[in-house]
This record gives sequence, structure tokens and C-alpha cells, in this order.
Amino acid sequence: MISSIKASMASMLHLFLLIDSLMVASGGSLNENFDITWGDHRAKMVNDGELLILSLDKASGSGFQSKNEYLFGKIDMQLKLVGGNSTGIVTAYYLSSKGSTWDEIDFEFLGNLSGDPYILHSNVFSQGKGNREQQFYLCFSVDGTPIREFKNSESIGVPFSKNQPMRIYSPLWNAEDWALEVDL
Ligand SMILES: *[C@@H]1O[C@H](CO)[C@@H](O)[C@H](O)[C@H]1NC(C)=O
Ligand SMILES: *[C@@H]1O[C@H](CO)[C@@H](O)[C@H](O)[C@H]1NC(C)=O
Repeated sequence: MISSIKASMASMLHLFLLIDSLMVASGGSLNENFDITWGDHRAKMVNDGELLILSLDKASGSGFQSKNEYLFGKIDMQLKLVGGNSTGIVTAYYLSSKGSTWDEIDFEFLGNLSGDPYILHSNVFSQGKGNREQQFYLCFSVDGTPIREFKNSESIGVPFSKNQPMRIYSPLWNAEDWALEVDL
């Protein structure tokens, strides 16, 4: 656990989303820190683990997850989302612990028609309880600017995500019906 925490503090993670694909670069080798877990050939690591590319087709999406779990850390991402008509394509980036009283932090980028802004859908679960959804329109620059804070409110009985290490997951998939529902 201690070593996971250190690894998370040190790890710099960058995500790039290109047309039909998700590319990730990090300071270290992605091979060392992530496993491709879904999508067969649709996901691949290239350049000696400097880049990870996710793509999707009609049959399936693809995804990867971190080998380690992290309790505290900072993750830097650079995202270039799927361009053009990305209606129904969801690119998620989330952290989740295990068990029935899990903690989870969700970021889901909901694709849209060409020229329309992406919506960033977020949620936070603590001890298995979510319902903390918030959406943001990504038509402005948010680099370095907090868009959402989940404060420790244990004093009024709200569990705080502080003692269950979480793994990083990133799937790319087509969820047309689901995305439209969220949009309502
Ligand atoms: C955008 O893509 C969706 C899903 O593939 C399709 O149903 C829709 O007709 C497309 N819209 C345009 C304007 O191309
Ligand atoms: C797509 O963009 C339009 C225009 O800004 C917005 O009203 C709609 O909610 C967006 N849909 C999604 C799924 O992001």
C-alpha cells in the first residue's frame, strides 16, 4: 500500500483522445502501470509504452486499468476527445475501490454532434453511496481550475473516501441510449 501511494504521487498521467481513439502518455512506461483489460486489438500500447491507444468499432469498445490501487494522489490528464460526430460515444475515466461499500470518483465525457460541446459527467461515491452527479459543459478552458470539490463532511455523518484505495479504469464505449438518458 505504501508503495502504491508513492507511485501515485510520482505518476504523471496524460490522456489524449483523438478521432476514434484514446491515447495516453506518461512519464514512465504505461506497460509498467496499466493493463489493457478489454477490447482485444482495439486497445494497444505503442512506442515502448509511451502511448496507449483505445478505439472502438460497431462490435466493441476497449479499455484499460491500472495495476496498482491508489489511496492519495494527483493525476494530470490531457484529453483531446473524439472529434466530429461523437454522439453516443462515452469516454470514461474513473477510480474505484472494491466491495459493497466502495468509493468511486467518475469522469465521463459524453460525445456530441460536431461543433457542440462535450459534457463532462461526474459523480462521487463514498461507502457505496453516489447520487452526487454534476455535469459540466466543456466549452471553456479548465486547466488547473477546480471544477468540483468533494469536501470532508464526516462531522455531519457523510463518509469520506479516505481509506479505501482505488484502481484507475478507463473504458471507451458506445452508449448511445445511456448517454441520451443522462442528457435528459
Ligand atoms: C451522428 O451519429 C449518430 C450515431 O452514430 C447517428 O445516429 C446520427 O445520425 C449522426 N448525426 C449526424 C448529423 O451525422
Ligand atoms: C450536445 O450539445 C448540445 C448543445 O450544446 C447540448 O444541448 C446537449 O446537451 C449536448 N449533449 C451531450 C450528450 O453532450
